[in-house]
Amino acid sequence: MNPILGIETSCDETAVAIVQDGVVLASRIASQVPLHLRFGGVVPEIAARNHLLTVLPTLQAALDDAGLRREDLGGLGVTNRPGLIGALLVGVQTAKTLALCWNLPLVGIDHIEAHVWAAMLRGPKQAGTDWPKPELPFLALAVSGGHTSLYRVQGPGRMTLLGRTLDDAAGEAFDKFAKLIGLPYPGGPNVQRAAQEGDDRRFELPRGVLGRDDFAFSFSGLKTAVRLKVEALRDGGVAIEGQVKADLCASLQRAVVEQLVRITLRAASQQGLRDVVVAGGVAANARLRADLGAACAGAGLRFWPVPPLWCTDNAAMVAGLAEALLAAGVRDDPHSLDAIATGAHKRSLA
Ligand code: KG4
Ligand code: ZN
Repeated sequence: MNPILGIETSCDETAVAIVQDGVVLASRIASQVPLHLRFGGVVPEIAARNHLLTVLPTLQAALDDAGLRREDLGGLGVTNRPGLIGALLVGVQTAKTLALCWNLPLVGIDHIEAHVWAAMLRGPKQAGTDWPKPELPFLALAVSGGHTSLYRVQGPGRMTLLGRTLDDAAGEAFDKFAKLIGLPYPGGPNVQRAAQEGDDRRFELPRGVLGRDDFAFSFSGLKTAVRLKVEALRDGGVAIEGQVKADLCASLQRAVVEQLVRITLRAASQQGLRDVVVAGGVAANARLRADLGAACAGAGLRFWPVPPLWCTDNAAMVAGLAEALLAAGVRDDPHSLDAIATGAHKRSLA
């Protein structure tokens, strides 16, 4: 199949990528982080307006990187769910227009399904080689700023939800904690950096709801516990700086990671799945990758962390899943494809 172009505008990154046979030929990300930094989080209206400014130049840059012209493309994929509605609409309208003008097949992509399918991608250096991939069906832990869910993945776009968070997402736990102690947005990478010098056993923090045998995560108790701890320290005249800050970051990171690892391992065992994928922004966390990898090895499971480059929002994952869906005969009508903020969507495979 000819190369597939993917567009991602669901949140604060304008991203365009080109994938062929699962190989990422180009992946451009125009980050809006500096624009949202001073607000401490993503401002939806600002995100949408900037997608509008950057989507076409980013698309042209991706084509140039890959040394391709639009005539070389075989199809288009665009994230159309879930996400910020104004932001999603920019990508969706762009992709619909291009699909009609360039006469290319189009498929709308679920952002979380794309995060998970990134485990199937490889870089240009691996083109033509027999690169190992997770075997279907596999277990996927999708951990991002908005989601913390476990799926049984049977094929492209065919994922059964096994369990998810009852309250906050893991990324949200990192981001809210970072804000509390004055670390800049996005919190996850900054907490990880500060945690490097910290003692992860200094502060005892809750690790989700215990005693459940389903796959429900919970991070709101942790959020409250760490806030009370920080307030108690401040009330006692302790500044959240230096070693205290590092120890708090390390302790929070450990509490988040231990919960993720424990429930993922239980799901793999209960579902009888041998391949475990971890995907989404929080999957870039080095402690999570190391601990989940060690736990999988200890349980005789194969571990497939998505390369950090494709964990946080990007369009390679969108183009990759679009390629697999288009190959399976899935198409969306460019006249009627819509952006869906919540992600609720049903589609039958051709
Ligand atoms: O997948 P993503 O880029 O966007 C969403 O779909 O939400 O995930 C962003 C989330 C943010 O909460 C960010 O703090 C978190 O991923 N994140 C990390 C790391 N890098 C990004 N969390 C922990 N450690 C990291 N290294
Ligand atoms: Zn994401």
